[in-house]
Amino acid sequence: MATHVITGAGSGIGAAVARRLHARGDDLVLHVRDAGRAKELTAEFPGAKTLVGDLAEPDRLSWAFSHQTLPDRVDSLLHIAGVVDLGRVDELTPKSWHHQLDVNLVAPAELTRHFLPQLRAARGHVVFVNSGAGLSAHAQWSAYAASKHGLKALADALREEEHAHGVRVTSVHPGRTAGPMQAKVHQQEGKAYDPSQWIDPESVATTILMCLDLPRDAEVNDLTVRPGR
Ligand SMILES: NC(=O)c1ccc[n+]([C@@H]2O[C@H](COP(=O)([O-])OP(=O)(O)OC[C@H]3O[C@@H](n4cnc5c(N)ncnc54)[C@H](OP(=O)(O)O)[C@@H]3O)[C@@H](O)[C@H]2O)c1
Repeated sequence: MATHVITGAGSGIGAAVARRLHARGDDLVLHVRDAGRAKELTAEFPGAKTLVGDLAEPDRLSWAFSHQTLPDRVDSLLHIAGVVDLGRVDELTPKSWHHQLDVNLVAPAELTRHFLPQLRAARGHVVFVNSGAGLSAHAQWSAYAASKHGLKALADALREEEHAHGVRVTSVHPGRTAGPMQAKVHQQEGKAYDPSQWIDPESVATTILMCLDLPRDAEVNDLTVRPGR
């Protein structure tokens, strides 16, 4: 049975992925920001283990993990957590830049560093949920897009480095997907939010599972998912 370490399993795309993997009986290690979220997600996903650490403080993740039991086996590491804060360059503060870069880029690098020994041993898979903003940047999206462009660079370098160890690396680039993050984006854009206009998180989950379940003769490097309506 495969063991998956998942960030962002408490909401949106991450929750959809966790539900699918839980339903088919795989072992889950759910990364959560604090003990309160750990309790909630353990209740939602019976049998799942949790790993606590705030992605907004990547410098402290190593210390946080040193006080917890890390899984011996990791078949996949699914980086799905993320944050967004829109603003023009003349408005975005260093605090907003740091927060988005820490959660969306530095923390995934640090988590990957921690789990690479287990991933190599299992000839595992690292999936980064990126964004359309990781491929092109538009007005008001500079900090988020920079974090996601950086995340693609991390994935591409990691793929080359880990190929010899049999570790597969995939970047999934969804377009606008319904959920709390998209509701916030609409609020910051001053637009009405209609979730039915955007991708269902279940559809993004389907693409992520397809990447994971692909036979070992093939690896999806980059996958773009756009709203179909
Ligand atoms: N929604 C979109 O339109 C869209 C489009 C393209 C790409 N994406 C990307 O897809 C991924 C998932 O997006 P989503 O729509 O599912 O977002 P979401 O519903 O807002 O969920 C974000 C998840 O990230 C977790 N998280 C945020 N900050 C954290 C921190 N400091 N420490 C630990 N966990 C933290 C949240 O934890 P809590 O549950 O505790 O709040 C939540 O589970 C993100 O990487 C996002 O950038 C989203």
